[in-house]
Amino acid sequence: MKDRIKETESRALSEVKAAAGQRDGLESLRIKYLGRKGEISELFKGLSAIAPEDKAEVGKLLNELKISVTNVIEGSFASLSAKPSGVKNSIDVTLPGISRRLGNLHPITQTINRISEIFIGLGFRVVEGPEIETEHYNFEALNIPLEHPSRDAFDTFYLESLGGKHLLRSHTSPVQARFMEKNKPPFSIIVPGKVYRPDATDASHSFMFHQVEGLCVGKDIHFSDLKGCLETFAKEMFGSSTKMRLRPSFFPFTEPSAEVDISCIICGGAAMEKRCSVCGGKGWLEILGAGMVNPKVFEKVGYDPKKITGFAFGMGVERIAMLKYGINDIRMFYENDERFLRQF
Ligand code: PHE
Repeated sequence: MKDRIKETESRALSEVKAAAGQRDGLESLRIKYLGRKGEISELFKGLSAIAPEDKAEVGKLLNELKISVTNVIEGSFASLSAKPSGVKNSIDVTLPGISRRLGNLHPITQTINRISEIFIGLGFRVVEGPEIETEHYNFEALNIPLEHPSRDAFDTFYLESLGGKHLLRSHTSPVQARFMEKNKPPFSIIVPGKVYRPDATDASHSFMFHQVEGLCVGKDIHFSDLKGCLETFAKEMFGSSTKMRLRPSFFPFTEPSAEVDISCIICGGAAMEKRCSVCGGKGWLEILGAGMVNPKVFEKVGYDPKKITGFAFGMGVERIAMLKYGINDIRMFYENDERFLRQF
């Protein structure tokens, strides 16, 4: 009996070894040795024929046999599920790695950076101001008196807790007055930042958007300087064949004032009759407002308008980005949909 046990064990172990990696082979060995009618059960049945004084020892050997065969078969099954069949070392060096996607700057940030770069190249420097403004800087300092109708488009988002005298700025122009109070000309600054308006949201309006303000002040600053500066900007931003035109306009803080258009970046101004979907067939796209600083604004900050002149402009960053990248809905900038943001 002891010999049979030994023989069974070594045979079982070598058969299991040979069947490593083959699920079916291992399963039939499990049945052959450990099944209800398997070899080991049969051996247990033979225990009754063993002399009583040997029973304890043979029984112990049989138990050890069962444990050892069970262990090797289970071990072989376990390594089956741990690696693909037939593969010994499971590191596949040809598999592609897990790449981590790098983020990128938001298209609005990229556009502000590009605008800033162009004006820095023209000698401007970047300045910032507060988004929570006083009525004084948002309106009065810019020659927009309380009863002036142009306040309507701007009158918005008052902060109750601050006594109703503070509001979210409706343009970046207040920074003009703030800067001039603290600095002496000559200087050239641009001011990027967020602004807020009481506009209902649609494809081209948002209650919050971004502007870049420009202000150049000194002796002998002329309208031609404004024109040259903005034309250089338009060509740098939209390509060297871009044309620019000025239309008379009105802003309380500039005199004279102009709306600035560029030739349509899609049809180049050629689609007058064909109704280009971007310029609507007009051939021109409005990109900003500008003008010579109103002498009244200079007086309020203590400059002498007889000695000092300057120009100012303000552009909507979203508008520039939409034209540059061909985006037709302003809301996409704020939805944070990665499928959109990833494209820039
Ligand atoms: N502040 C004006 C606006 O928001 C733009 C502007 C700035 C116009 C500077 C002229 C000069 O509409």
